[in-house]
Amino acid sequence: MLSWEDYHEEETTPASSAMLSMPEPAEQPAAPATSAVAAPAPKQENSDLVAKAIEAVEHIDTAAGLDELEMGAARVSVDEKAMINCRADLNQLVPFKYDWAWQKYIDGCANHWMPQEVNMTADVATWKNPEGLTDDERRIVMRNLGYFSTADSLVANNLVLAIYRLITNPECRQYILRQAFEEAIHTHAYQYCIESLGMDEAEVFNMYREVPSVAKKAAWSLSHTHELSDPNFNTGTPETDQTLLRNLIGFYAVTEGIFFYCGFTQILSMGRRNKMMGVAEQFQYILRDESMHLNFGIDVINQIKLENPQLWTPEFQQETIQMILEGTQLEIEYARDTMPRGVLGMNAAMMEEYLHFIANRRLSQLGLPEQYLGAQNPFPWMSEIMDLRKEKNFFETRVIEYQTGGALTWD
Ligand SMILES: [Fe+2]
Ligand SMILES: [Fe+2]
Repeated sequence: MLSWEDYHEEETTPASSAMLSMPEPAEQPAAPATSAVAAPAPKQENSDLVAKAIEAVEHIDTAAGLDELEMGAARVSVDEKAMINCRADLNQLVPFKYDWAWQKYIDGCANHWMPQEVNMTADVATWKNPEGLTDDERRIVMRNLGYFSTADSLVANNLVLAIYRLITNPECRQYILRQAFEEAIHTHAYQYCIESLGMDEAEVFNMYREVPSVAKKAAWSLSHTHELSDPNFNTGTPETDQTLLRNLIGFYAVTEGIFFYCGFTQILSMGRRNKMMGVAEQFQYILRDESMHLNFGIDVINQIKLENPQLWTPEFQQETIQMILEGTQLEIEYARDTMPRGVLGMNAAMMEEYLHFIANRRLSQLGLPEQYLGAQNPFPWMSEIMDLRKEKNFFETRVIEYQTGGALTWD
C-alpha cells in the first residue's frame, strides 16, 4: 500500500536513478517540434506572470458565471429537486431525492468489467476453422457485431449530447455519466471481438449504413435525437417536454429495450451451445449492464410522468404505443434477416413471439396496455440471465487484476 512517505521518496529520488528503474520504453515516435520550445522559466519569485496571477485571483468574482445559482440563497432542499426544468443548484449531489437513481449508480459501479478480461482464444480458432460454424451462424455473428458496434455509440452520443443537460437532477446525471462510460466499454467490447476474430472492420462498422435491416433500426433511433442535440433546444414548454419524453422512450424503451433483444438472444444461444463462448461472455456482461440502463430509463420516464402529468395526454400515450409497435416491427424484420432459416434451436417466428412478449413488458412498464395479447416467452432462460439475483456467481471467474501493459493477442 502506498503512503505519503512513498510519495516523498519518489519526489526526492534523483531523476537518473528513477529512469534506471523504468522498463525499456518501446520505440517512441519522434517528439513534435513544438515540444522543443520550453515554457518561460520563472527567473525570480515576483515575476510579472506570478504577479499577474496573484492579481487575477484577488479579483475573482464568485458570482460571475454563476448567476443561475443565486449566490447567498437558501441551501438546496429535497423538495426543490425535479427531473426536468429544475432551477435548484445542479452541482450539489446531495441531499438525495431519487434514491433509486443513486442506487443504480452504485450497482453499475459494482458490476464493472473490461473486455480484455474475456479469453477469446477458442473463438478465434472456431472462427478461423472453415468447419467451426455454419454459414447461418456466421451471419448471426457478423450482423450482430455490425449492429451493436455502432448502436452503442448512438446511445452514448444521445446521452451526452442530447439528454444529459435536459435531465436536471444530479443523482440521475451521476447514473447517466456511469451509463455513458458503460456504453464506451460496450463499443470497446464489440471492437475487441471484431479485431480478435480478424473481421473486415470497415464492413462491420458500416453495416448501419449499408445493410437495410441494421440501417433501419439505426435510422429510427437517430430520428429521435436530431431535435435534442441542437444546442438551442430547451425544455420548458409542453411541446418541448414531450420531445424529451419521446427521446427517452425512443432510446431507453425501444433502442435499449427492444432493438438489443434479438441479437442478445442469438449470441447467448450460441454460447449456451458452447460456440463462440468468448463473444457470448462479452454479450452476457453487456446484457447485465443493458438491463440496468433499461430499468433506469423506465424509472426516469415514469418519474417525469408523475411530476408532469399534463404531458401524458391520451394522444401522447397513443404515440408511445405506436413507437413501441414500430420498434417491435423493426426488430422482427431484423430477426427475419438474421435468421433466414432455423438456427441454434430457434427461428424468426419464435423470435417474433419473444419480441411480442418483450413489447408487452415495455408497454406495461410504462403503464400502457399490452398490444400482443397472450404473447408467451419462448426463451425463459433469457430472463434468468437478466435476473441479477440468480446470477450471483456470474463474475466468479473474472480476472480482477487489470492488465496495464500491452494488448493481448489471441493468435
Ligand atoms: Fe450498451
Ligand atoms: Fe445501454
